[in-house]
Amino acid sequence: MYALITGASKGIGKEIAVELAKKKYDLLLVARSASQLEDVANEIKGKYSVKVHFLAADLSIPDAARTVHKWVEQNEYQVSVLVNNAGYGSAGNFDRFTVEQNRDMMNLNMITLTEMCQVFLPMLKRHSQAYIMNIASSTAYQALPQMAIYAATKVFVLNFSRALKFELKDSPVSVTCICPGATDTNFNDRASIPEKARKAAEKVAMTPEEVAKISVDAMLAGKTEVIPGFINKLGAFLAWLAPKSITEKVAAGIYE
Ligand SMILES: NC(=O)c1ccc[n+]([C@@H]2O[C@H](COP(=O)([O-])OP(=O)(O)OC[C@H]3O[C@@H](n4cnc5c(N)ncnc54)[C@H](OP(=O)(O)O)[C@@H]3O)[C@@H](O)[C@H]2O)c1
Repeated sequence: MYALITGASKGIGKEIAVELAKKKYDLLLVARSASQLEDVANEIKGKYSVKVHFLAADLSIPDAARTVHKWVEQNEYQVSVLVNNAGYGSAGNFDRFTVEQNRDMMNLNMITLTEMCQVFLPMLKRHSQAYIMNIASSTAYQALPQMAIYAATKVFVLNFSRALKFELKDSPVSVTCICPGATDTNFNDRASIPEKARKAAEKVAMTPEEVAKISVDAMLAGKTEVIPGFINKLGAFLAWLAPKSITEKVAAGIYE
């Protein structure tokens, strides 16, 4: 039985792959970088004696989910776990980015994630028990000036996942949404997070290994929505409690 993980070449996705390999799932890894995927595949095969295959694909382009699904069908892999982890943010004012740059992020973080759920659902439903894990973010709990689109894509991921879980309650497919806070990965570099925000994040950042273990355990336990780490749970609670104008001002101040 295979677990398919997007964004598995590094960071949280790679560690989710490791956690699932520990539980003896065979793995299908997807990301853009073939060489990094190959390294991860060899490392996991060597340590955990599971089957690992990979596909190098850009999931921000239209119909990427269909491409992945076709690869799975052609090779007759049976997927019972789907982890939609690939995603990124970009720090800066909304209008600093081109239409294409903003669209690429929305495509990866929302459209491909949604279409992956759609094209893989029939296969997932054929198993007696199957799982979808969607990675959102603690930014799903408030508007985030300077990362306006990124945070909004994660609101989509969270609400879509919750509704899908409800719709699938009488099916064998369980849906779990994970909302990590700051995690020590390549995310900040790709997002060009400014120094002040990095310093603030460093103090509370979790390791990708910690986040992955909590995420996989929560998924297998059938949880709906999970915020890894006490500080991040507290942050989401305070964001809910405080007036929005204040949480937005505080967040914008960190990203200035
Ligand atoms: N780190 C944090 O602080 C944090 C906090 C909350 C939520 N998250 C979320 O956690 C998830 C994983 O991020 P991370 O922190 O592990 O970041 P990361 O270290 O940058 O890893 C991102 C992964 O996604 C893949 N990816 C990026 N663009 C892609 C594309 N167009 N097509 C296919 N794959 C692509 C990357 O591989 P390639 O570059 O090889 O394509 C990599 O495997 C994301 O959804 C992110 O929004 C992260």
